[in-house]
Amino acid sequence: MQTPQLVLLLSVALSFVKLGMTDGGFCSAPSILDRPMYWKVTKPTLSPSHLQDLPGFTRSVYKRDHALITHESHVFSPLPEWTNTLGAYLITPAMGSHFVMYLANMQENSKSGLPPHDVERFIFVVEGTVTVANASGFGSKLGVDSYAYLPPNYEHSLMSDGSATLIVLERRYAFLENHNTEHFVGSTDKQPLLETPGEVFQLRKLLPTSMPYDFNIHIMDFQPGEFLNVKEVHYNQHGLLLLEGQGIYRLGDSWYPVQAGDVIWMAPFVPQWYAALGKTRSRYMIYKDVNRNPL
Ligand SMILES: *[C@@H]1O[C@H](CO)[C@@H](O)[C@H](O)[C@H]1NC(C)=O
Repeated sequence: MQTPQLVLLLSVALSFVKLGMTDGGFCSAPSILDRPMYWKVTKPTLSPSHLQDLPGFTRSVYKRDHALITHESHVFSPLPEWTNTLGAYLITPAMGSHFVMYLANMQENSKSGLPPHDVERFIFVVEGTVTVANASGFGSKLGVDSYAYLPPNYEHSLMSDGSATLIVLERRYAFLENHNTEHFVGSTDKQPLLETPGEVFQLRKLLPTSMPYDFNIHIMDFQPGEFLNVKEVHYNQHGLLLLEGQGIYRLGDSWYPVQAGDVIWMAPFVPQWYAALGKTRSRYMIYKDVNRNPL
């Protein structure tokens, strides 16, 4: 066969393959698959715009034992000790928590400051790329869905060349004799799925479960229609960021429609329950204090 004919035959064959894929349905719908992961955390498009524009309207709520902080309520200001970074504190001890949770919006040539003495830090990238480096400048690059744990009094810096958004959690470390935590980096998709007896959601833990660590970060995935079986009431406190999806969060006697980007503070013993709704997976990250006697 001569070359032009071969090329023609090949391209006809290829177009049949393409057609076949389109007929399969996966390629024909307008695709949202090429959006970066967690893009809705900083651009929650599901808020009806006529409500966002309504003077004074917000879904945010602040009560004695819980709070819901939604996108339109975020107030950013320069983070003390950091350069070229704006922060929005979403959960602080003024609410009753023993930790802080904040968004850090890093700009070009930005750099973190250190947390106060004896305070440990956890960072999770929701947008862009950051470099986490130790005191000698050795570092790792972290993209979206990656995270780092920095022990108390561990010298480090977080840097970004472009714009990046982090969620940061810090707490005063609850020291235990003969135990020390270690710094590490990781990414959610590398963490194994764990058993969740009696529950249907998928669970990953981002920190080791061993005694030195006084908190953990859980990543919980629900398909639409799935919900928590246990109507939880417990001594631990929580800081939650909804990374994907939408649903209903019950906190005490209130039932809140929630969506990606929403942050929730849960005080100890607030009744809590979640049901995932909508058409896509719900994924949230949630802080939980562990491994210490509450007394
Ligand atoms: C920083 O990390 C490098 C590479 O792991 C290591 O060789 C160096 O000792 C570390 N520096 C400090 C101050 O921990």
